[in-house]
Amino acid sequence: MATNKTESKTIHNYLENMWHDYCLMNPEAFSIYKMLSQSGETIQNDHIALRTFKHPRLGINSLAKHFIKYGYYSAGEYFFVEKKLYAQHFEHADKSLPKIFISELELEKTSPYIQEIISGIINQIDPQMMASEDSVYGGKLWTINYQTYQKLAAESEYASWLYAYGFRPNHFTVSINHLKNFKDIAKLNIFIKERGYKLNTSGGEIKGTAEQLLEQSSTMASETVVQFGDGMYSIPACYYEFAKRYPMTNGELYQGFIAKSADKIFESTNKQS
Ligand code: NI
Repeated sequence: MATNKTESKTIHNYLENMWHDYCLMNPEAFSIYKMLSQSGETIQNDHIALRTFKHPRLGINSLAKHFIKYGYYSAGEYFFVEKKLYAQHFEHADKSLPKIFISELELEKTSPYIQEIISGIINQIDPQMMASEDSVYGGKLWTINYQTYQKLAAESEYASWLYAYGFRPNHFTVSINHLKNFKDIAKLNIFIKERGYKLNTSGGEIKGTAEQLLEQSSTMASETVVQFGDGMYSIPACYYEFAKRYPMTNGELYQGFIAKSADKIFESTNKQS
């Protein structure tokens, strides 16, 4: 059908713009992508992750609506009590399209300091901007200060990352199921590490098990230099993730997420000592 074709072309362009923004921010992920491509792989994304604040103007729905427009629907929800996060994942009927994983920081559970700082930056956002689908990779729509960043990081690494980088893909995820030569996640991890990249070892290098129907690993975010109001500082940026899914009893691949594994994956943007 002609309409479907147009819709699918547009969503591909939209995701392509997100990928472009992500690669600019995260040259290390692009190098890994190129390395895998050059070894003969065609890379399909399992999911793309986005972060936001829980707020009437900025919650999950403010980002999700841009995907729902293209036919995505909510297909699961997750709770991260300790990190004060709530997340949903969105799927598309076209299973070759990546899932979209959107998390939000539950501001009402954070300290008065975080609430005050975040409400200050939210007030700087032009409401028109969030209406545009470009807001998903619009970056930070506010001014930032390094001292504030550090204070936020002491309480919530997630809050500090979002404060410093704003709206942009936090990570893309290679679908291991669609690779030819790396059916095994441990084998892929070795390939990545042998080329000098560091993997997140929080909770073990491989999060999840075949029994849980999902195995994941990720690089540790490399640092980029960010211009703050009070100087230039090097801080962790984005990371690249790898996911292998297993079939459910009905033979179809499990499409959800494991909260316990995702909880550890979030730590891929922690500062490395
Ligand atoms: Ni992920």
